[in-house]
Amino acid sequence: MTTDYRFLKACNSEPVDTTPVWMMRQAGRFLPEYRAVRSKVSFLEMCHTPALCTEVTLQPIDILGVDAAILFSDILVIIEPMGMKLDFNPSPVFEDPIKTQADADALRVIKPEEDVPYVMETIKMLRRELVSRNVPLIGFSGAPFTLVSYMVEGGTSKNFMKLKNMMWGAPQLYRSLMEKVTECVILYLKAQVEAGAQALQIFDTWGGILSPADYLNYVLPYTMRVIKAVQTPGVPVINFVGNSQGIMPLVAQAGGDVIGVDWRIDIAEARRQVGKGKAVQGNLDPLALLAPIPEIDKKVKEIIVAAGDTGHVFNLGHGIVPETPVDHVKALVESVHRHGESHRVK
Ligand code: CP3
Repeated sequence: MTTDYRFLKACNSEPVDTTPVWMMRQAGRFLPEYRAVRSKVSFLEMCHTPALCTEVTLQPIDILGVDAAILFSDILVIIEPMGMKLDFNPSPVFEDPIKTQADADALRVIKPEEDVPYVMETIKMLRRELVSRNVPLIGFSGAPFTLVSYMVEGGTSKNFMKLKNMMWGAPQLYRSLMEKVTECVILYLKAQVEAGAQALQIFDTWGGILSPADYLNYVLPYTMRVIKAVQTPGVPVINFVGNSQGIMPLVAQAGGDVIGVDWRIDIAEARRQVGKGKAVQGNLDPLALLAPIPEIDKKVKEIIVAAGDTGHVFNLGHGIVPETPVDHVKALVESVHRHGESHRVK
C-alpha cells in the first residue's frame, strides 16, 4: 500500500523530496472562497451536504498547494445521532448537556453509514476528485475526551468545571460515558477508512487541560484503545493533543504513527520526548501567520532544521485563525517546500 505521496511517506518516516505541509482548519474562514460558499448556508447545513463539503475541502488544495486534503466536517457531528441536539452560534452549543447516568445511558451507539451518510459520501466524492490532483485524503474524529468535554460542558468551556467535577466526583458515570463515546469513535474512524480515508487524525483539543497523572488515568486508555482498534496497514494515524507540551511522552504512549506538536514546545525537544519510530507534525504558532512574510520564512526554516531529516509533517500548532492573510499562507507553503528541499540536498 506504499504510495508516492510525500505526506504519507513523511508519516511513515520514509525519505521525502521535501517537507510536506498542510494546516489544521485549512478549509475555513480565512479563504474568501470558503466565505462565499458559507454565506449561503448555515455551518451545519454545509456539514450535511457532500457537494459543499467536497468543494471547500478542495479549495486549499487548489489555492494554496498543500500536500494533503482534510475532510471538511466537524468533530461534533457524530454527537447528534448519539442523541444530543447541536447548534453553532457560531461556537457549538448542546442544549441539554450530560449530567446523570440516565442521560449517558440514553445515548445511542452510532451506525456511521446510516447516521452520518453525508460524511461517507463526501469521502467517496473527494477520493474521485483528488486522483487528478495527486493529493491524499485525511479523515478525522475528535478524541473521546474532547467529545465528552463538549457533551458535559454543553459547549466550549473556560475551566471545564463540570467535566472535572464528573471525572473526580462521579468517576463511574465519567467512565461509562467515555466507554460509549470510544465505541462510537472507533466505528466512525473505521467507516471513514472503509470509505477511502488514507490517513486519520485524532483531535484531542482539550487533552492538555489535565495534569500528567490525570491524563494517564482518565484519557490515555481511551485514546489508546481507539488508535489500536483503527490501525490499518498503509493508513497512518496522527495523534494531536492541544497544549500537550507537559505530557508529550504520555501522548506518544497513547499511540499514533505521527504525534501532533503544539507550538509551546521546541519541535526538537518534542521529538526527543516522543522517542524513536514515530514522526512529528507541527508546529508553527498559528498567529505567526499574521507576521511579515520574511519573519514567517525565518520561523519555517528554524522548525524544519530542528525537526530533523525524516518523519516531519509541517503544520501549525493549532487551527489557522480567520484573520490570516491568504498571501501569507501561500508564502508559508512555498517556504516549507523551499527550506525542506535545501535542507535535504547535502
Ligand atoms: O481542518 C479543516 O479544515 C477541516 C474541518 C474542521 C473543522 N472543525 C471546520 C470548522 C475540523 C477538522 C474541525 C475540528 C474541530 N471542531 C475541533 C478540533 C480541532 C481544533 O480546532 O481544536 C474542534 C474543537 C471543533 C469544534 C468547533 N467547531 C468549534 C469550537 C467551532 C467554533 C469555533 C470557531 O472556530 O468558529 C467550530 C466551527 C467550525 N468548524 C468552523 C469550521 C470551518 C467555523 C464555522 C463557520 O464557518 O462559521
